[in-house]
Amino acid sequence: MRVGVLTGGGDCPGLNAVIRGVTKCLILQHRAEVIGIEDGFLGLIERRTRPLHYRDASGILTRGGTILGTSNIANPFSYYKRDDADVSEEVFEYARLIGLDALVVIGGDGSMSIANGLAQMGMQIVGVPKTIDNDLVGTERTFGFDTAVSIVTDVIDRIHTTAQSHDRVMIIETMGRYAGWIALYAGVAGGADIILIPEIEYSVEDVAWVCLQREARGQHFTIIMIAEGARAKGGDMVVKQIVENSPDPVRLGGVGKVLEQGLRTQTDSEVRTTIPGHMQRGGTPTAYDRDLATVFGVYAAAMIAEGRFGHMVALQNNRLTSVPFEEVANKTRMIPLDHPMIATAHATGTSFGARDFDCRIESFHMEDVVT
Ligand code: F6P
Repeated sequence: MRVGVLTGGGDCPGLNAVIRGVTKCLILQHRAEVIGIEDGFLGLIERRTRPLHYRDASGILTRGGTILGTSNIANPFSYYKRDDADVSEEVFEYARLIGLDALVVIGGDGSMSIANGLAQMGMQIVGVPKTIDNDLVGTERTFGFDTAVSIVTDVIDRIHTTAQSHDRVMIIETMGRYAGWIALYAGVAGGADIILIPEIEYSVEDVAWVCLQREARGQHFTIIMIAEGARAKGGDMVVKQIVENSPDPVRLGGVGKVLEQGLRTQTDSEVRTTIPGHMQRGGTPTAYDRDLATVFGVYAAAMIAEGRFGHMVALQNNRLTSVPFEEVANKTRMIPLDHPMIATAHATGTSFGARDFDCRIESFHMEDVVT
C-alpha cells in the first residue's frame, strides 16, 4: 500500500506530530510506503513529492510548522497559476501515476472541501482536522487550539501586571476567524474582565460601562479579550486584507484598534491594544496537542487500513470517530450561546460587552468544557 500525506491551509502547532503519527503507524503496523506531498495541494498539482521514511518522521514531534510545507491558495479545482483552471483531472492522473492507493489530507474546512471534490472523483482520502480556530464542524476539538489558547493565556498574564501598574484598559485581539473559541477559552483561563466574541454582538457603551464600574469599585484596570471576528451591534467585522486566489480570501484584523478608539472617548483611562498575531500559530505544541495530533494520525492510519475513505477523523463526546467530508466542507462551528464555557464566564462576572446578554444555566453538562 502506498499512501500520500499532505498538510493544507494555514499552519498550526501539531502538524508534524500528525505526520509522525500517521507515517510511523502506516510503516510499522501496515507495512505501507508513505509519500510526502510538498506544500499542500500545490505539490499534487506541481508534482512535487518525496518518500517519507521512518527516520523522516523521527525527531519532529515537538517541532512547530510542517516539514512538508503548506499552501493556503492552491486549489486543484481553481488553480491560480493558470487562470483559475480546473486541474483536478491532472492531479488525479498524477496520483495514479505515482501509485497512490490513499491520501491523508491534514487541513481545515477549505482543505476538507477540496478533499471532498477529489473523493467524489474516486480518490481514496482520509482527512485530519487542523486549525487553531477550533471551528471545524463535526469535531469538538482540532489540534493546535490548545496551544493557541496557552499562548494567548500567557499574553493575558503578562498584560495583567503592566495593566495593573499603569491603571490602563488593555485590549488583546486574538485570531479565530468567524468564531470566538480562542478568545473565550483564553479569556476564561486568563481571567479577562470582558470577552468579546463574534457570537455575541457588543456595544462600545456597554464595554465602557464595565470599565467605569470597575474604576468605581477601585479596580483601576480592565483586561479586554476581543476575537478578530467580533463586531459591534449593527456593525461589520473588521477586514484587514483580501488575499486574492485564496479559497477564503478575507483576512480579519484590526477590531482591537477600532474598539480602542471608541473607548478613548468613553472612559478616562489610557487604552492600549496588543495583537499576538501569528505567534498564536507558531512554536512547540502543548502536550495535549501532541497527544491529540498523534492519536488523530494513528486513527487516520487505521481508517485507511479499514478502507474508511471520504471521512475526516473527529472527536465527539471525547471519543474518536469520523464524519463524512460533505458534513464538514466550507462550514464554521460557532460557539453555541448555551455553551458551558459562556455560562461559566458569565457566572463568574465576566462581561460579554452586551448588558442585555443573559445566560442563566442552573446546572449544565461539563463534558463540553474540557474537550
Ligand atoms: O485559520 C487560522 C488563522 O490563523 C485564523 O485564525 C486567521 O484569521 C488566519 O488564519 C490568518 O491567515 P493568514 O496566515 O493568511 O494571515
